[in-house]
Parts: sequence; structure tokens; C-alpha cells
Amino acid sequence: MKIERVFVVGSGLMGSGITQVSAQSGCKVIMHDIKQEFCDRGMEGIKKSLGKFLQKEKISQDHHDAALTNITTTTSLEDAKDADLVVEAVFEKIEVKREVFGTLDKVCPPEAILATNTSAIPISDIAAATERPEKVLGTHFFSPVPLMKLCEIITGVQTSDETIATAKAWAESVGKTTVVVKKDHAGFIANRLALPMCLEAVRMLEAGVADPQDIDNAMRFGYNHPMGPLELVDFTGIDVMLNASQAIYNDTQDPKFWPPPLMQRLVRSGLLGRKTGKGFYDYSSGKKENYWKG
Ligand SMILES: NC(=O)c1ccc[n+]([C@@H]2O[C@H](COP(=O)([O-])OP(=O)(O)OC[C@H]3O[C@@H](n4cnc5c(N)ncnc54)[C@H](O)[C@@H]3O)[C@@H](O)[C@H]2O)c1
Repeated sequence: MKIERVFVVGSGLMGSGITQVSAQSGCKVIMHDIKQEFCDRGMEGIKKSLGKFLQKEKISQDHHDAALTNITTTTSLEDAKDADLVVEAVFEKIEVKREVFGTLDKVCPPEAILATNTSAIPISDIAAATERPEKVLGTHFFSPVPLMKLCEIITGVQTSDETIATAKAWAESVGKTTVVVKKDHAGFIANRLALPMCLEAVRMLEAGVADPQDIDNAMRFGYNHPMGPLELVDFTGIDVMLNASQAIYNDTQDPKFWPPPLMQRLVRSGLLGRKTGKGFYDYSSGKKENYWKG
């Protein structure tokens, strides 16, 4: 099956990015959210991002205009009735996702594939809200979606090979490099590898082994990572990393995913990284500065 009509549920950071790359690849996309003002905010983000690509001459004016004409918005899930593929990117809450999938299952054509962008909820738990678990899978994009190349394709317990093949071909058609996760397993591949390193970096900082910049420089210059682990946590959001590691810990009971107390204290203090101006570094001046005394 060729995917031509895509319906994206949730117009936040990830949903708007997924809408943008799908529209840029030529799909007709309907972006949904619970309020029109949220859809409008998502559209503003898309226009800004496409405008930057245009300004930097990464895309032509025609490509820019065609991408925008491929997108419409809605606040009604009923508008998913003609979709070939739905990608859900709502809040990371199982009850919200299950409700959305239950409705989509009733509204969408029987052949439609239903994908979730969840970072940590088992795909099979979401698929169980539908009567088509063989057509449900995970498509895990990375932020910012228009720039990050990876999409993990995750197989739920009952996902069919055909569903995986169709979703993989679609993700590649929107410009992503795919990796297939053959088992519904917490953290998929990338987070399962990156989180233990990031949590260990926080533990080292907590134990006073080294300053943030030295921990980061060890990985930047010793292993050629473009960003050190603490910079990466600040970039992603300390709260986001905390939730992700707690979710993997809950699923696996593996102590290496237990978040260090320092991470929890920073979150409770409102120091969430770049987005709040301060985390392991201070970004309030507009550039990254060292301030850590601990
Ligand atoms: N932010 C990231 O870096 C990242 C990376 C990979 C995956 N994810 C996952 O992607 C999903 C979305 O994350 P995000 O960062 O875009 O969140 P976000 O908070 O930016 O956006 C979520 C959007 O969903 C909307 N929404 C909530 N309930 C809804 C419903 N019932 N129907 C329709 N829309 C609804 C909200 O109004 C909001 O606009 C989550 O599952 C998250 O775990 C996030």
C-alpha cells in the first residue's frame, strides 16, 4: 500500500514536525489537535521552519509553497476517515493514547495503519485499544523532526510484517533513515543506549568526580560525540530524560535506568535545561556557560 493521505494526531513539537516532513514529501496531511489554537500554533512552527529552510536555500519557493498547501488542520478525529496512515503524537499518557486509538479504530478505513510516536509506552498496550493490532506500530521520530534523520520502526507483539514494511517505506520516503526494532522493548534502540550513558554522567557529577564541561569533553573529544551527555540531557530536557528513564526502569527493573537523585532535585527546582535557561549549564545569556559549583 502506498501512503498518500496522512492524519497526524497532536500538533505539538513532534506532531507538527511529522506533519511538515510528510507534507514536504508530497503526502496530503491533516493535522489534528483538541483546540484550533493548538493547531494554529503548530502551523506557525511549520511555517517558521519551512521559512528557515527557504532562507538558507535548502528548499525552493515551489517546494515551500507545495508543502504548505498539502496541510490542513482539524479538531475532529472523524476527519481521519480517509487516512492511509495515522501518526499519533499526543501527550505521553497511556489513557489519552488508548482513547485516541479506540476512536481512530472506529473512524479509519479498515486498511489504515495506526502509528504511535510514543517514547516509552509499550506499543502492544496501545494496540490493545483497537481491533486491528496487526496494523498498529511505533514510528519513533527524534526532535527536531525536520532535522533529525532517525525514525525507529517498532514492532508490537501482533504487528504484521506488511505493516512494518509499509511504515518503513513511508518513513524513508519522508527523508528518514529507519531502524527496525523487532521486539516491543522499553527504550527501543537509541534511548536504551543513550540513557545509561547520560545517567552515568549525572552520577559522576553527583559524586564530584568531574565538572560538567570535563565530563562532556571526555565524550566529545574521546569518542567524537557531537554533544557531551550532560549537554544532551540539557538539550532534550532534564524532565524528559527523567520520565524516560523512570519508564524504562518500571518496565525492566534494571537499576542502571534508575534516575539519580540529583536529576530529580533539578527537576523539582525548575531547572530543566535549555528550555528553562538553566540545567547543567546556564543558557540565560544566549550561549552555554559553566556555572556548576557542586
Ligand atoms: N519531545 C521529544 O523530544 C519527543 C521525541 C520522541 C517522541 N516523543 C513523543 O511524542 C509524543 C508527543 O510529544 P511532544 O513533545 O510533541 O508533546 P507536546 O506536548 O509538544 O504536544 C502534544 C500535543 O498533543 C495534543 N493533545 C493532547 N491530547 C490530545 C488528544 N486527545 N487529541 C489530540 N491532540 C491531543 C496537545 O494539545 C499538544 O498540542 C509523546 O508521546 C512523546 O513521548 C517526544
